[in-house]
Amino acid sequence: MKRVITYGTFDLLHYGHINLLQRAKQMGDYLIVGLSTDRFNTTKNKRCYFTYSQRNKLLESIRYVDLVIAEDCWEQKIEDIKYYRIDFFVMGDDWKGKFDFLRDYCKVIYLPRTPEISTTAIKIHLRNACSNGSCSK
Ligand code: CTP
Repeated sequence: MKRVITYGTFDLLHYGHINLLQRAKQMGDYLIVGLSTDRFNTTKNKRCYFTYSQRNKLLESIRYVDLVIAEDCWEQKIEDIKYYRIDFFVMGDDWKGKFDFLRDYCKVIYLPRTPEISTTAIKIHLRNACSNGSCSK
């Protein structure tokens, strides 16, 4: 049984997130998602549209995701990897190099991001579209 872990905020869930979760699951048999809590997002100056429990519910209903855990600080990753006996730590390549220190504990893999989509891009698009009076794409 190969265990995979990834982390993120996953606000306004979109197809870039799904692509990442699908490829992460394909690296092993069991995928854990460390989901940023609202408190942790505040420390990162990130404001979510959906609350932690709403984002949690969305992730739990995705077939690639086996378990969602709370990510409440930057420092917990080593303990999570040991506790859940993780084989692969997976993130999108916007994080390339940032988690190489975890190579002492498991394999670290950065997957290419899906181009042209992000939570931030959706928010900007909707803000602009709505201020023009047209919320469709
Ligand atoms: N991700 C991806 N492709 C995208 C967007 C995100 O592979 N187009 C990956 C990220 O690299 C990360 C995970 O999905 O590993 C969660 O990313 P998150 O920061 O929650 O999503 P973003 O859409 O990048 O959100 P934001 O714009 O708020 O940074």
